Amino acid sequence: MIRITDLSKQFHNETRITYRDMTFGSGRSYMLLGASGCGKSTLLNMIAGVLSPTSGKIEIDGRDMTAASQKEKDRFRIEKIGYIFQDFKLIEDMTVADNIGILRLEGVDISGTDSLLESLGIADKKNSKIRHLSGGQKQRVAIVRALVKKPDIILADEPTGNLNFAIGEQVVKELVKVSAGKTLIAVTHDDRLGKYFDEVIDMNTVTSGMQDAAAGEEVAPNA
Ligand SMILES: Nc1ncnc2c1ncn2[C@@H]1O[C@H](COP(=O)(O)OP(=O)(O)OP(=O)(O)O)[C@@H](O)[C@H]1O
Ligand SMILES: [Mg+2]
Repeated sequence: MIRITDLSKQFHNETRITYRDMTFGSGRSYMLLGASGCGKSTLLNMIAGVLSPTSGKIEIDGRDMTAASQKEKDRFRIEKIGYIFQDFKLIEDMTVADNIGILRLEGVDISGTDSLLESLGIADKKNSKIRHLSGGQKQRVAIVRALVKKPDIILADEPTGNLNFAIGEQVVKELVKVSAGKTLIAVTHDDRLGKYFDEVIDMNTVTSGMQDAAAGEEVAPNA
């Protein structure tokens, strides 16, 4: 379980994001919905331990991650968190197999690769280079790469952002299916995908007091 308490993040440019308290249960799937700039990616990055909160707490299974050292956070992320990015972050000139194979350098057991490729319908692409794949296929490879280490927590930042609706919907259905039993937190702009998740959290109401000091005004919805 992930528990967020009194969390805020202030950037050097004085953009301050204040989060309402939230809890993400084990084995449940969540969709984070909210206007551009409301702090969704920042939240995922703080949960992943790549950004530090300015104040407040992030507890994962009772452990206060904000009190952990960066080394401990990095280890936790490598072992327990699967992170899926909107822009895939795959190496275009390498094959699917090699993009997943490089995880062995981090000590990840990749023996589950074939069954995940199978589940996501891209087993036949295993030896293809990433640059020869469609957007939907690349996103599926990114999902396999995030899930192969059997993480407890899956963070997906706009996993459908680069895909058309039909393909994006299919990818989300598959993502939710292969994430069964884990905590899945997915950011998306598209509320039509909400029905595939256990819960939809509207970040427009979760964040408050967000303001950009330079502009001196709140960020408008859909800005
Ligand atoms: N590294 C940074 N330095 C300064 N400000 C930042 C940084 N990262 C994010 N911000 C600011 O924090 C706010 C939240 O950004 P964030 O990327 O979390 O939004 P988001 O909800 O993911 O938006 P989008 O839907 O466009 O991806 C924005 O105002 C952004 O400009
Ligand atoms: Mg974002």
